[in-house]
Amino acid sequence: MAKKLFIKTYGCQMNVYDSARMADVLAPLGYRAVDAPDGADMIILNTCHIREKAAEKVYSELGRIKPLKQAKIAAGGDMIVAVAGCVAQAEGETLMERAPVVDLVVGPQTYHRLPELIARARRAVSAGDGPGRGAIDIDFPVQTKFDHLPDQAAPQGASAFLSVQEGCDKFCTFCVVPYTRGAEYSRPVGQVDSEARRLVAAGAAEITLLGQNVNAYHGRDERIGADVGLAELIRTLARIEGLARIRYTTSHPRDMNDDLIAAHGDEPKLMPFLHLPVQSGSDRVLAAMNRQHGADDYLSLVERLRRARPDIALSSDFIVGFPGESEAEFAQTLALIEQVEFAHAYSFKYSPRPGTPGALMPDQVLEAVKEERLMRLQALLCDQQTRFNQSHRGHTLAVLFTGPGRHPGQLVGRSPYLQSVHASAPDRLIGRVADVSILAVKPNSLAGRLAALDAPPDVLTERAIA
Ligand code: 5AD
Ligand code: SF4
Repeated sequence: MAKKLFIKTYGCQMNVYDSARMADVLAPLGYRAVDAPDGADMIILNTCHIREKAAEKVYSELGRIKPLKQAKIAAGGDMIVAVAGCVAQAEGETLMERAPVVDLVVGPQTYHRLPELIARARRAVSAGDGPGRGAIDIDFPVQTKFDHLPDQAAPQGASAFLSVQEGCDKFCTFCVVPYTRGAEYSRPVGQVDSEARRLVAAGAAEITLLGQNVNAYHGRDERIGADVGLAELIRTLARIEGLARIRYTTSHPRDMNDDLIAAHGDEPKLMPFLHLPVQSGSDRVLAAMNRQHGADDYLSLVERLRRARPDIALSSDFIVGFPGESEAEFAQTLALIEQVEFAHAYSFKYSPRPGTPGALMPDQVLEAVKEERLMRLQALLCDQQTRFNQSHRGHTLAVLFTGPGRHPGQLVGRSPYLQSVHASAPDRLIGRVADVSILAVKPNSLAGRLAALDAPPDVLTERAIA
C-alpha cells in the first residue's frame, strides 16, 4: 500500500522545485504525496530562513505536528518527521534538541540521500536512541545532488520550474543564502537540456529557470568543451520544439551581461519580464549591503534592457530600514522607483539574520520607522503595478493557459508579463498560448475574452491558437 507523504513548502520557488524533487526521490520507496498532514507516514517541512522568525515558525508548526505523530503511533503506525531546507541547514542538531518530534534533518544539498537518512532514522528509533538521533545531513558534498537525483517523475503541468544554478558567492551583508545554500554551482547544459525535454514531453509549454543567482549561470557545455552563460543556455533550450516560453529568476544586476541583454531582444521565446532586485536606491546603502553596484548602474541597465526589448516589464525586491538608512537615503529609493516604473515588486523590512554582517552593524533602524517606510514604498509600487495592469485594458495579450479558473468554463493563464489572466475557454487550451482581449483589470489579475472569436469559445480559429 502506498505510504502517505506530506510536504509543506515555505519560501522561494527553488524550495517548490526541491519539494517536487524530494517527492521524486521518495516515490520508489512507495511514498505518494497527499494534501494534509493527518495520518501521513512522512512529513517534510521544507523551510526558508531568509527573513524574520523563520525558525520560530518551524518550531510552531512542529508543535502542531506532535499530536498527529502521537495519534499515528498510538494507532500502531509510525510517522517520520523531517525538516529540510535552509532552516535545517542553519539550525542542524538544535532542531532535534528543541523539538524531539523531529526524526530527520536534511540540508538543501543532500536530498538525494533521503532514502538512506530515513533508514538511519528508523534504526535510531528502533534502537531506542530517541527520535532520529544521527539522521542529520547538512553537508555540502562535492558531488552535487543533481548528479544523484532521479529523472524528474511528477509532471509539473503547463508551466514548470527547473533549477539550473544554486548557491551564491555575492555575500550581500543582509542575506543568509551564501551560508545556507553554499557556494555557487551551475548544472551542466546537457543535464538541463535533458530535464527541460522531459518537462516538455510531460506537457510543459513554459519553463522558468531557477537559481539564487541565476544569471551568474556558467554551466559546462560538453558539445564545445567550455562553460557557457545563461544567454547561451536559453538559446539552447529555445530549440526545444513544443517549448513556447522561457523565463529565469532571480538575477543580480552585476551579472546582467551584454549577451543576456541581447537575448531579450533576439530570442522570441524569452519572455519580456525580468525580476531584477535592486534593494535600495541609495549608493551608500548599496555599498553597505555589499551589492557591488550603484543606483546609476541599475538605471543604465534598465535603459539597455528597454533598448533591447522596449516592452520589457520589470520587477524588483526592496529592503527598507537597512542599518543606518536615513530618511534622505530612503527617499532615493523612492526616486529610483519613480524613474524605473516597475510592473511588480516585493518589498521587505530589513530583518537582521544571525551570522550575517548586517546583523552586527550599528544604527539598526527602529521597527516603527521601517513599518512607516514600507507603507510608503508599497503605496508607490502598488500604484505602478495598477498603472501597468491598466495599460493592457483594451489590448490583446498572448496567454498561456495553465489550469481551470475560478468559475466553471473559465481558465486561468499567464500573460508574457507574468500577469494572471482569466478568460472563458475550453479545457483543451490548457498548455496552449492563445490571444485574449483584456476587458477588466483587477488588483492582482486581468480578465478578458479569447480574441478572434466572435463565435463561442469552442469554435477556435487558427489565429487564436499559437
Ligand atoms: N531582511 C529583509 N529582506 C531580505 N531579503 C533577503 N534577506 C533579507 C533580510 N535579511 C530579501 C531581499 C532578497 C529577497 C529574496 O529577500 O530583497 O532579494
Ligand atoms: Fe543573497 Fe545577495 Fe546572493 Fe541574492 S545575491 S542570494 S541577496 S547574497
